[in-house]
Amino acid sequence: MGAPSVDTVALRTLLILDPPEEAYFRDNLARQTAAIVACIEANDTDAAAILKTAFTDGRRFVVKVIDLDEDTLPPTMLNLLAANGWPGNVVRYHAVFDGPDYRFVIMEECACDLYMESGIESPYSEDGLRCIMRGALLGLSFCHDRRLVHCDFKSSNLLCAEGSLEAYYASSIDRETQEKLSANIKLVDLSEAHEFGQLRGDVGTARAPEIWKDVCEHVRRSGRAWTAEEIEDTSEFQSLCPAAPAEDSWALGATLFELADNEDLFDPDMVHEIVAKGDYAALCDYYVERLAGLPEVFRGRGFSEAAIQFAQRLLVIDPCVRSTAHAALKDEWLA
Ligand SMILES: Nc1ncnc2c1ncn2[C@@H]1O[C@H](COP(=O)(O)OP(=O)(O)O)[C@@H](O)[C@H]1O
Ligand SMILES: [Mg+2]
Repeated sequence: MGAPSVDTVALRTLLILDPPEEAYFRDNLARQTAAIVACIEANDTDAAAILKTAFTDGRRFVVKVIDLDEDTLPPTMLNLLAANGWPGNVVRYHAVFDGPDYRFVIMEECACDLYMESGIESPYSEDGLRCIMRGALLGLSFCHDRRLVHCDFKSSNLLCAEGSLEAYYASSIDRETQEKLSANIKLVDLSEAHEFGQLRGDVGTARAPEIWKDVCEHVRRSGRAWTAEEIEDTSEFQSLCPAAPAEDSWALGATLFELADNEDLFDPDMVHEIVAKGDYAALCDYYVERLAGLPEVFRGRGFSEAAIQFAQRLLVIDPCVRSTAHAALKDEWLA
């Protein structure tokens, strides 16, 4: 497919989240489309691509380009979030357009995400992590209030809106600065978000135990041997796993550990291997064993007991007992 020229690309507006700026986005996006498509082809990307771009007036944006054959971001998700004013800790989406082959989602540009290269020591301080968790929880609780589960919460889907991450490395951060740093944390990537109870059908990455429980059950009922690779194949599980907010709480706890230690709390290969046998009890044993090591890791970094308890309230195997986003926001560690 050749890159279409500007005037052959008819853009269909799906959603403008900034109605006063509708004309602005329509004009500017039409002018950018050919460049964006050429850029996608030069990079040989067919999956979602993120492009940082400046419009002709110098305003900077990020455009997420989604292949229409791949999964799409349902505008209803954005409508749901926008219904009562855009939540401050969710990255701001301005508009969604469809071209013939791609969907373009225009959003605010953030400085960076919080993900760390593996092999380096985590630079985040306890105070820095407190700001990150507070911001992330505000974003999650906004989603949950609108009956949306993020379903893909992890450090690469947490952005810092402005400034640099160094501010989150400081060992002691005063209250006023903490507030600013929390406000700069933005949740991004709603591509896997589901409404409460919707069948999420995706078990691709490390997930909460209750999701694996459904999968284990399915594996056992099938009465045949599975491979760990098959477990990663989502299509087998399309009708499993209703989305529930507790899974975001679990993912938040695991992310806190990972940001503190820069190691996976749970080894995804190990999880897949156990789930392939359908052995949910063995999976719980594995979780319990890994979780037992968490206090030592936090103490080793000089973190408070309150930080340990905060993480432990999120990483509870039974989703009914796990801290909700609202409860976690009131946790003494964040107070
Ligand atoms: N608004 C943004 N500002 C800055 N970087 C972004 C923005 N959105 C996404 N990114 C970067 O691009 C990466 C992928 O974007 P994401 O929406 O998570 O797509 P994917 O579905 O491919 O994970 C993010 O992890 C982040 O590093
Ligand atoms: Mg992502």
